[in-house]
Amino acid sequence: MPDPAVSRSNLSPVPLMQLSTGFWAFKTLAAADELDLFTRLSDTAGITSEELVQALGIHPRPAEMLLTGCAALGLLEKEGSRYRNSPLAEEFLVRGKPYYFGGFVKMLDKRLYPGWGKLTEAIRTNRPTTWDPDRQASLFDGEDPAMLAFFWEAMHSISTFTARALAEAMDFGRFRRLLDVGGGSGAYDIELCRRYPQLRATVYDLPFVTEIAAGKVAEAGLSDRIEVAAGDFFADAVFPGGHDAILLSMILHDWSEAKDREILRKCHEALPSGGVVIITELLVNDEKTGPAPAALMSLNMLIETEGRNYTPAEYGAWLDELGFRDIRTVWFDGTGANGAVLGYKG
Ligand SMILES: C[S@@+](CC[C@H](N)C(=O)[O-])C[C@H]1O[C@@H](n2cnc3c(N)ncnc32)[C@H](O)[C@@H]1O
Repeated sequence: MPDPAVSRSNLSPVPLMQLSTGFWAFKTLAAADELDLFTRLSDTAGITSEELVQALGIHPRPAEMLLTGCAALGLLEKEGSRYRNSPLAEEFLVRGKPYYFGGFVKMLDKRLYPGWGKLTEAIRTNRPTTWDPDRQASLFDGEDPAMLAFFWEAMHSISTFTARALAEAMDFGRFRRLLDVGGGSGAYDIELCRRYPQLRATVYDLPFVTEIAAGKVAEAGLSDRIEVAAGDFFADAVFPGGHDAILLSMILHDWSEAKDREILRKCHEALPSGGVVIITELLVNDEKTGPAPAALMSLNMLIETEGRNYTPAEYGAWLDELGFRDIRTVWFDGTGANGAVLGYKG
């Protein structure tokens, strides 16, 4: 008789090892970014382990481990005894570069990682873990300086690249004025206006956020084409008019279905006939089986908000009920979104 404790299965737990240790990779990246490793190495001949010891004033043991870990993750490349930025790190992890991703890494590390530590609690209670719903109405309520310091910087990091992916997937050449509802730092507006010279845009967001956006827009030298409109998309009866396209990027996943339908109703009202609403999100598939970045962003919404990541079918049904026509989904490969659901006002 074969011993029943000896498995005949071909299955291996190696995929579970990869899943379970995912945070090792993330924390290695976050520590390297916090120590400014990639910025330090940008456009240099690289660094040896001994030089890193000197530069950071750290013990040789962690210096060697950090460099080896970053090389293993494809963030550094080694030639002789010197470690250099890989092309990925050079393009996206060097502070000051146009598509710098470190702002998002920092927010994940400092804000979301502790919140995810209480994911089971969030699942049990259906309450966020990164802020206290007994003291705040939402994630965006209150002007916590720590939050101000990195939330919108993080959004800027992921949205600049998402805007680029969107601009490559659909033609903005036929639109003249874009209203970016909850436009945050103005990342989409800056990227889209740079690519489409006929386009003008309005960043519509809470007053303390439009101040951040105005600063980013001025830095980009686009203040003559991008304006800001301070407001509140729940409290305001109508949205700013005169726009033929309205963008909602990573807005609807923050809120309940009822609130989202109300935001979409105001979008419909603000658009002229033929105007378009563009919903960009990490879209969960209609079968609700993935893809993983969207499904996990949805759990991220559990610890941060009252929303979730919806499907194209869900958005399509809401848009259809409001009278939007030619509803379709454009897929692309971005950081903050994998697609856009579009609907035209009839
Ligand atoms: C997840 S961020 C997305 C920012 C931007 N659309 C992007 O994709 O980079 C959500 C945005 O909604 C804005 N927001 C939240 N509540 C709002 C309200 N009541 N009225 C206007 N904007 C609001 C926040 O300030 C924040 O900028």
